[in-house]
Amino acid sequence: MKTEIVQVSKDNPDPEVIKRASEIILSGGLVAFPTETVYGLGANALDTDAVAKIYLAKGRPSNNPLIVHVASIEEAMKIVAFWSEEAELLSRRFWPGPLTMVLPKRDIVPENVTGGGSTVAVRFPAHRVARDLIMACKVPLAAPSANRSMRLSPTTADHVRKSLGGRIDMILDGGPTLVGVESTVIDLSQHPAVLLRPGRITPNEIENVIGSIALLGFGDQGQGGAMKSPGMMKKHYSPQAPLECVEGALDMEKIMQRHPGERIGILQYRSHAPISIDDVVCIKMPGNARKYASRLYAALHALDEAGVVKIYVEFPPEGEEWMAVRDRLKRASAK
Ligand code: TXA
Ligand code: MG
Repeated sequence: MKTEIVQVSKDNPDPEVIKRASEIILSGGLVAFPTETVYGLGANALDTDAVAKIYLAKGRPSNNPLIVHVASIEEAMKIVAFWSEEAELLSRRFWPGPLTMVLPKRDIVPENVTGGGSTVAVRFPAHRVARDLIMACKVPLAAPSANRSMRLSPTTADHVRKSLGGRIDMILDGGPTLVGVESTVIDLSQHPAVLLRPGRITPNEIENVIGSIALLGFGDQGQGGAMKSPGMMKKHYSPQAPLECVEGALDMEKIMQRHPGERIGILQYRSHAPISIDDVVCIKMPGNARKYASRLYAALHALDEAGVVKIYVEFPPEGEEWMAVRDRLKRASAK
């Protein structure tokens, strides 16, 4: 299959391009598009065969459900069986934006969207290209991150091309995404609501709107058993090279001894002396959590490109604003 890549303005997408993309979707094809978090791989969420193609293109296990993207609160209500008070409050506060809510599903949502389960994850993205595309399609779009299963999420069209080129119909290139980590996922189908995946919108921000919520400890979503969110496996979001998180400063001397003649990668957080050693690819990360998140995947993609055999990460501090970054780094380092 040839993958068509089309540039599109993120502020004012060309309606002709959007129309062509929507025609592909409505004829059962796959189109990757930018959202404010990461690029998504979109298909008509109401078309079982189109949804099946997503799993095939990604190599994704069929029990890992997809997020359904809508372009209004009204559209969200049409795919869920029960629009709760919490859903109403959170959607009014955070939509459009990087928040995904899990709610009981309606029958029109195919089983393969929800991994056979009785709930559906819905999100109203803020990115203009995503919104225009959903509106042009006039159907909700099932869209996981546009990467091969278990790999890094894409924050540029080029990341998508490298991972899924030749396996999907079209990529809408709207430039790099802003938030950089996937949306916050909150399960509202149980009480209290459970945070399934940390993201830009933090637990505190959610609790300010709906009161206290439950957090999952890291590793609560193991490989087997009854997983609350099957996608939240301990290992996920991985670069090719093994990754190790280090609390505190890196001892470069020790690290170099471990890797004679090998090329290694460093994500540097603290403002220690810049590392300039042959065969060390060092990327200095921002001290601000939001900026760090926005650059995280691009940095890991770059280290993969550089062919490093191992990545060492100076772990950023604890604290609510770093939760999403630490979560993704921990998963990337899980064996
Ligand atoms: O930011 C994002 O959310 C991006 C963009 C493209 O919107 N999408 C994304 O999709 O990250 P994906 O498929 O890579 O991650 C979806 C997550 C998975 O962890 C999945 O298990 C969880 O949401 N999920 C989906 N439906 C669910 C459900 N019914 N119950 C529990 N978890 C669900
Ligand atoms: Mg993903």
